[in-house]
Amino acid sequence: MTDTALRPLDVYLAAPRGFCAGVDRAIKIVEMALEKWGAPVYVRHEIVHNKYVVDDLRAKGAVFVEELEECPDDRPVIFSAHGVPKAVPAEAAKREMVFVDATCPLVSKVHIEAARHAENGLQMIMIGHAGHPETVGTMGQLPQGEVLLVETPDDVAHVEVRDPERLAFVTQTTLSVDDTADIVAALQKRFPAIVGPHKEDICYATTNRQEAVKAIASKIDALMVVGAPNSSNSRRLVEVGRKAGCAYAQLVQRAEDIDWRALEGARSVGITAGASAPEVLIEEVTQAFRDRFDVSERVVETAQENVEFKVPRVLRETA
Ligand code: F3S
Repeated sequence: MTDTALRPLDVYLAAPRGFCAGVDRAIKIVEMALEKWGAPVYVRHEIVHNKYVVDDLRAKGAVFVEELEECPDDRPVIFSAHGVPKAVPAEAAKREMVFVDATCPLVSKVHIEAARHAENGLQMIMIGHAGHPETVGTMGQLPQGEVLLVETPDDVAHVEVRDPERLAFVTQTTLSVDDTADIVAALQKRFPAIVGPHKEDICYATTNRQEAVKAIASKIDALMVVGAPNSSNSRRLVEVGRKAGCAYAQLVQRAEDIDWRALEGARSVGITAGASAPEVLIEEVTQAFRDRFDVSERVVETAQENVEFKVPRVLRETA
């Protein structure tokens, strides 16, 4: 070994990681809308929670806004993958706007569940994070005040319901599988008649990415999660890594965010990415490790994914 030889480092790449089918579809929807209608195409909220993706689409002519009222009547508008309250498409229809809903089909499924429970006269409890657009969208499927939000088992102890015999629950799709199981158990203990999905509504992509992190957690000294600070499923991966025994876990958007000083003693590092982080950023982060260390890379795959969602018909039609 010469003085300039790089220090050895084992890098474990979790698989699956990165883009899910819902994110892939949402990005395709914006790209196809730009192709079909030309720029500008408006997008209500970040189409997916990733700055790189948003900046790239903005450069192609997408205009990101937070509310529908910021959009002109005569340009198409797309609703983000997280879903929107019912009032939003209703308002767009009233203004006779062209709109395309990029809500992930697995989020739409939860919206349908919520509506079905309400039709059956059940009061809804949502397990989710206050203020997250998906939670706002799902709660907004029913009239205001109809859906009660719980974020922790402690919230369950204090929630006030109309009738404990007539209750149902739904969940955000990007929660921690283990934490949610605890909240569901608390709900079932306090309200034995509560109705819910067989498992939670947590989606396949969230579940698989968390499982993959658990599989590498005991082998690594540090975990890098590529993802945005406002990405729920990315933040959950950091928590899952820590809970599974990884002493240091960091959320990074780009390679420049890596805290190299915190990694000084590390002999093994795991890399994963949230469902809205593109492969190019995962590669950038992995390359940063290759540049600084003598890296041996291993992929640890815990599941294979072949889910694909079609884009809405209006974008598949050529005319
Ligand atoms: Fe859909 Fe799950 Fe991705 S809900 S957008 S498949 S993280």
